[in-house]
Amino acid sequence: MRAVIDALIRGERPSRETLTQLLTHFSADDAAYAAEAAREMAHAVFGKRIFIRGLIEISSICKNDCLYCGLRRSNKNAERYRLNEAQVLDCCASGYRAGFRTFVLQGGEDAFFTDDILCGIVQRIKSRYPDCAVTLSMGERSRSSYAALRQAGADRYLLRHETASPRHYGKLHPPQMSYDNRMRCLRDLKDLGFQTGCGFMVGSPFQTADDLAGDLLFIQNFQPHMVGIGPFIPHCDTPFRDRPSGSCDLTLFLLSLVRIMQKNVLLPATTALGTLLEDGRERGILSGANVIMPNLSPVDVRCKYKLYDNKLCTGDETAEQLEKLKKRIAKIGYEIVTDRGDYNDCK
Ligand code: 5AD
Repeated sequence: MRAVIDALIRGERPSRETLTQLLTHFSADDAAYAAEAAREMAHAVFGKRIFIRGLIEISSICKNDCLYCGLRRSNKNAERYRLNEAQVLDCCASGYRAGFRTFVLQGGEDAFFTDDILCGIVQRIKSRYPDCAVTLSMGERSRSSYAALRQAGADRYLLRHETASPRHYGKLHPPQMSYDNRMRCLRDLKDLGFQTGCGFMVGSPFQTADDLAGDLLFIQNFQPHMVGIGPFIPHCDTPFRDRPSGSCDLTLFLLSLVRIMQKNVLLPATTALGTLLEDGRERGILSGANVIMPNLSPVDVRCKYKLYDNKLCTGDETAEQLEKLKKRIAKIGYEIVTDRGDYNDCK
């Protein structure tokens, strides 16, 4: 399988069948080989610098009913909350003091956050912290809504595509949601000048190696600025409660392949990876990731934003523990930096 990894390193575009074979048959040696190449590519672009993003989980209310997600509308056991603007600004203030220069506002699709309300929050953050980037991760919206948010000063938008296979998309989502609309959103976001992030879960129910090959080809074609990849983890109050978690080794291998295929990409070592592996953050970085997103949400709501079982909401995950996290990252030879960490495709 080395030959396929070498072809990717040279910037070639293997066929879907070849990628499927790679994802099915890779060995531990292949993974180590890909990780080394991915690390070298990340070093060439970013040095041994890790960007941090302060994650503010703004609402656990969601109108959608994604079968995998603990925040799905039909989960009557989920505790729902919504932060007000003052609470969000408080999170930014403590984050700024700790050294964060990117704030990520993430939430379910909560109708409370109209364009007016969300634009107001974005404007207030940008005027208080002109040296900071604002990233939104608030789901599917209309093109005009995205345009208004961009106008209000939002710099980046995260919207995982979840799967680049329409068949698989249909198995993870209720019929009211559409693959085509998701893809429309991603195109609009990029077109409107957002630094745009897509991404997917590894090992979600019904996923095949061919689907994952499709995800890699989609990324190669769409050229996102950011890619979020984490293992699927079941949530006890969803239809997928009895499904196994995704493989961490496969997640790490995919992180390496995405780095190799797009050397400039901003690639987080995700919370889901950190949830399944005690040293998930470190192993993500050693596989080519260069971003960590500690939680800046108010402590009393943090454990209510429960996408999956056992989601980390204390410990090194939290911003208060940033110093500890810095030490852990220093141990593997990397440095957490205070930097907006924008995508730079000129490098
Ligand atoms: N396991 C892992 N990741 C999940 N997400 C939602 N539910 C789960 C789960 N059960 C991811 C989705 C979503 C992001 C915010 O969290 O990919 O886009």
